Amino acid sequence: MKWGLFKFAAERGPDGISAMATPETDLDQSLSSADRLVIRRPDDWHLHLRDGAMLATVVNYTARQFARAIIMPNLVPPVTTADAALAYRNRIMAVLSEKSDFTPLMTCYLTDDIAPSEIKRGHDAGIFTAAKLYPAHATTNSSHGVTDIRNIYPALEVMQKLGMPLLLHGEVTHKEVDIFDREAVFINKVLKVLLNDFPELKVVFEHITTKEAAQFVAEAGPNLAATITPHHLSFNRNAMFEGGIRPHYYCLPVAKREEHRLALRRAAISGSGKFFLGTDSAPHAAKDKETACGCAGLFNAPYAMEAYAEVFDEESALDKLEGFASEFGPKFYGLPLNEGKIVLERVENAAVKTCEGPTGHLVPFRAGETLPWRFAGIK
Ligand code: NCD
Ligand code: ZN
Repeated sequence: MKWGLFKFAAERGPDGISAMATPETDLDQSLSSADRLVIRRPDDWHLHLRDGAMLATVVNYTARQFARAIIMPNLVPPVTTADAALAYRNRIMAVLSEKSDFTPLMTCYLTDDIAPSEIKRGHDAGIFTAAKLYPAHATTNSSHGVTDIRNIYPALEVMQKLGMPLLLHGEVTHKEVDIFDREAVFINKVLKVLLNDFPELKVVFEHITTKEAAQFVAEAGPNLAATITPHHLSFNRNAMFEGGIRPHYYCLPVAKREEHRLALRRAAISGSGKFFLGTDSAPHAAKDKETACGCAGLFNAPYAMEAYAEVFDEESALDKLEGFASEFGPKFYGLPLNEGKIVLERVENAAVKTCEGPTGHLVPFRAGETLPWRFAGIK
């Protein structure tokens, strides 16, 4: 192993994360090659970075591990124009660590009255990579979302022609549908119709949580793919209620039964190009989660690759991690693969309990736990 080859893209990183230290001190020289995994630099195909001071707090956790990320547009107000997306991209670039080579890939938030011409303009200008469909009121900041999929058919026509992916928050929102069934009902009520009406449209079923979704995506045509989060691979719905109510395990779509988690694991390690990495890291201040009506979303960016590596290792499928994390996403989006590599080491390390945020601390996914894998930097 040539230690001199390792360098970090970000030197001034988030506090408290050991992997932001110098590369020389960060590689465990006692490790055998079986305990060190070098894979192509990954991308995150679903990420919430927020804005303002929160953006500055969280962005470098992602940028130190991932080369690119699909940035969710659910700001207040949502990102619905190319100009707004460009301005947001500039704000992201402005708070990246000095040496970061991170590329944010911007998305358009679809509304009932979105103008197809605006989508085309943003796409042609290289600003919009994809567009995001939030069913109205499905999740955080989705009140401007789409009330009926037919309202955006003109936009979908244009996207289909452009080869621009549609990203789906795949849940129905009707109050009478049980929250644990909303994804499965979405498949039957919305997704099947959508795929039938737009057979050439590229669609990403984001953060899937059910065996129904995994099976549907696996059996669908090549234009449908899915992202899977580290948390939905790591715990089931019991985690939200273990010994009391646990807000840091609450996200949307909500975690499901164990059989669903196991189906997601099988999909992730299947080697199918239809399943790829999307963290859905969605930071909220701890005080906004630890309250009577807590926000949905897990902040998993600080230990994202560590968490995925642990899952693939538990499944004896570390050889499948690179495809899932670094190859299948760019292939689906029609983007080049990253050139660089990252190093992951099988070394026990303690996750921090909290990260400082602008309005109080954040509690990251895996806070305070001993992690069996650690991110050792970019090669
Ligand atoms: C996300 C957020 O907080 O923006 N929350 C979440 O639980 N995942 C929104 C979303 O992706 O649903
Ligand atoms: Zn999300």
